[in-house]
Amino acid sequence: MPLLRDEALSSAFDHGSLAYDRLTALSPGYHAHLRRSARRLRLPHGGAGLRLLDLGCGTGSSTAALLAAAPYAEITAVDSSAGMLERAAAKPWPAGVSFVHAPVERLAEEGVTSGLYDAAFAAYLLRNVGDRDRVLAAVHERLAPGGRLALHEYALGGRAADRMAWKALCTAVVLPLGRLSGDAALYRHLHDSVAQFDTAPALGDRLRRAGFADVRVLPLPGVQTGLTCTVVGRTPSVPLVADVPVAVPVAVPAAAAPHPASRSKGRP
Ligand SMILES: C[S@@+](CC[C@H](N)C(=O)[O-])C[C@H]1O[C@@H](n2cnc3c(N)ncnc32)[C@H](O)[C@@H]1O
Repeated sequence: MPLLRDEALSSAFDHGSLAYDRLTALSPGYHAHLRRSARRLRLPHGGAGLRLLDLGCGTGSSTAALLAAAPYAEITAVDSSAGMLERAAAKPWPAGVSFVHAPVERLAEEGVTSGLYDAAFAAYLLRNVGDRDRVLAAVHERLAPGGRLALHEYALGGRAADRMAWKALCTAVVLPLGRLSGDAALYRHLHDSVAQFDTAPALGDRLRRAGFADVRVLPLPGVQTGLTCTVVGRTPSVPLVADVPVAVPVAVPAAAAPHPASRSKGRP
């Protein structure tokens, strides 16, 4: 079955929003793991003075996790599903949290975000987008130098046992619950998209190729080990080489250059 993408995915999530919070409440560690991934951004001073993005915020669970890690930050939460976003926005939020209806692929074109951000959180988003490298490039562009990114994702550990555990979990729990809630196509998409997605190490490599530095792939505990992970990275803190004036080696006139023997004088 082809994966759901773009409009088809948004409308599946629109309908899926009705049962989404009830179903995720059944997933062991769902909220605790989101909070752990958000903390892995290591945002200083409770996020005071920082501008953050929550990309693919859904019904706001990842936004709440980001807020717990950075209660004083300004958070812009973005999602392409009107139904998911409506549920998120209906929850109580402090004044610094705002919601934007847009696909992450068109953040810049739609003018929904301005300026640079200090960090971005994307929980269960990247697997759902068609052109992942393009989305990562766009996120990189929106982050200030040294800006941080945390992906929280279903990305299998790479062992055959992880793949078997995912298949068993879906057969026993995910697909039956999806059928019961009237969202069979969405939960079939969840199964297939995880099976076809990067393994956790490959996701780390994808971030490195996108220009993120200090990339680390971190496991999540309990039954999620080998199924979900956090991948963190940051944009280089100095401008990229292309933006820095290249240091041209200066030829030293022979008369001014110290004699090789004199260079070692006085040194041990
Ligand atoms: C599995 S939900 C996760 C929601 C939330 N981050 C959480 O952790 O509970 C994935 C969300 O990503 C959104 N999404 C998928 N593709 C998107 C895109 N291209 N742009 C913006 N949002 C997208 C979906 O509408 C959905 O709300």
